[in-house]
Amino acid sequence: MNRLPISLTRQIPNPNIYVKMLPEYKNWIYLEEEAPLHKGKWVDVFNETRLPLDLEIGCGNGFFFEHQVRNNLSRNLLGIELKYKPLVQTVRRVKRLNLTNGKGLRFNAQFINLIFEKEELDNVYIYFPDPWPKTRQLKNRLLRREFLNNLFSLQKTDCFVDFKTDSKNYFDFVSDEVKFTPFAVGRYSEDLHKSNFASENFMTSFEKIFSKKNQPIYYMRWVKT
Ligand SMILES: C[S@@+](CC[C@H](N)C(=O)[O-])C[C@H]1O[C@@H](n2cnc3c(N)ncnc32)[C@H](O)[C@@H]1O
Repeated sequence: MNRLPISLTRQIPNPNIYVKMLPEYKNWIYLEEEAPLHKGKWVDVFNETRLPLDLEIGCGNGFFFEHQVRNNLSRNLLGIELKYKPLVQTVRRVKRLNLTNGKGLRFNAQFINLIFEKEELDNVYIYFPDPWPKTRQLKNRLLRREFLNNLFSLQKTDCFVDFKTDSKNYFDFVSDEVKFTPFAVGRYSEDLHKSNFASENFMTSFEKIFSKKNQPIYYMRWVKT
């Protein structure tokens, strides 16, 4: 079988309660070790296999994930999360509603090129990724040119990547990185909530926290033309 040769993420020596809950989420949550088995055929994990396949990276507590799944029944959404707790919190929301167009995957998104085929993905949502603000932490940032170039090749033409952050420093960093990719910048705002895009914006959990503190939200959409 085409399993991963090594674990790409940290092992948890003492499984937390969320790890113990995983058997309840069979056919809802997929794990790192089995992820490569679905390469090129992720649509088959969903009931409706002919729908577009969108991806959310870093779902947190799943507030946006639930909104997106509920309001887009004609699309499938796979949520990738590094941590078990937010992953279970995310998938629990749609399982309770018995919505079958949203599924979860425990995986380190840094390695997505190992688990998706070229042009397998439709739209991608990356909201408030960890900003790693200190200089010595910059290497941990997910949205670097190599990752963005991988995403570009994994997406179908005319699809987009949506990115929001509260960190001006991360936003400027990514604005520079994206210049080293073939993506076209389709949308750009340094204050999303006061922009023309505000009316169609749905606030994530982290976004609400920053918004309450009157911090501007930075937003970009890149399109694969
Ligand atoms: C700051 S939270 C934002 C959560 C949510 N998107 C929101 O806006 O409320 C970032 C999330 O990304 C997840 N994460 C961080 N690095 C990741 C990676 N390499 N792969 C997948 N998920 C990751 C974290 O576990 C966390 O849940």
